[in-house]
Amino acid sequence: MSSVLIDGKAIGAKIREEIKIDVERLIERGCRPGLAVVLVGDDQASRTYVKNKEKSSTAAGMKSEMIQLPITVSQKDLLDTVDRLNNDPTIHGILVQLPLPPHIDENKVIRSISPKKDVDGFHPENVGKMIIGQTSYVSCTPAGILELLKHTGTDISGKHAVIVGRSNIVGKPMGQLLLQKDATVTYCHSKTENLESFTRQADILIVAIGQAKYITADHIKAGATVIDVGMNRDENGKLCGDVDFESVKEKAGALTPVPGGVGPMTVTMLLKNTLKSAQLACS
Ligand code: GUN
Repeated sequence: MSSVLIDGKAIGAKIREEIKIDVERLIERGCRPGLAVVLVGDDQASRTYVKNKEKSSTAAGMKSEMIQLPITVSQKDLLDTVDRLNNDPTIHGILVQLPLPPHIDENKVIRSISPKKDVDGFHPENVGKMIIGQTSYVSCTPAGILELLKHTGTDISGKHAVIVGRSNIVGKPMGQLLLQKDATVTYCHSKTENLESFTRQADILIVAIGQAKYITADHIKAGATVIDVGMNRDENGKLCGDVDFESVKEKAGALTPVPGGVGPMTVTMLLKNTLKSAQLACS
């Protein structure tokens, strides 16, 4: 059997076209959505992600402000930058790229972002609201994965979703969102014993562990929907996911490629959240 390829590139592009139309409507009413992205230091991967966010927001017709701060920036200067953006009426979304250098208290920085402009959905107020099912800004990668499942017509209610990885950005919110859609959710992580015994039960398997090609066909139930959040380099320096695509594609029912699966959805959801914030601010 060969699985259906879940084309995040195409699905993301379609949603971004819809966002662009809504942005035009807001601009006609005198309100241009604005996204500020703050990058501390010059980590190459972070720089690439940030550039992509900047490019995509501009392409959607939004104002994009990129703020680059040196790796030596003090916590106070970073908090002052966030404060300025919180009070800037032309900015509707603020994103501080993580990770931050060790001398900076990441939680404090996240809490300093106005929950109304927290388009990453990382602020404890938004995380709390998401868990109790209230409207909030939802972390972009899990939100994008839900869109992929929706667009591919994947049944969630009553299905067993297994999440491998428990980060605050992906794993934890992903499980909560699937729970709200009536999935039965199992969390697995680096200390889980006998991982395969869990992953083989999954109707929907979400993998976010940052280990190249870790999940093989042996981990999969035939016909499962497999979502690969990983972004790694293989032994030849080629981009690859946490899932061994070549073996799993013969067994899964549907599978995301890397690149071109989850990645394009993350930035799409960031734009969607920024649009929503602007719509609320300008109504
Ligand atoms: N670092 C890795 N992913 C993300 C993300 O989605 N948002 C932010 N702010 N930093 C990240």
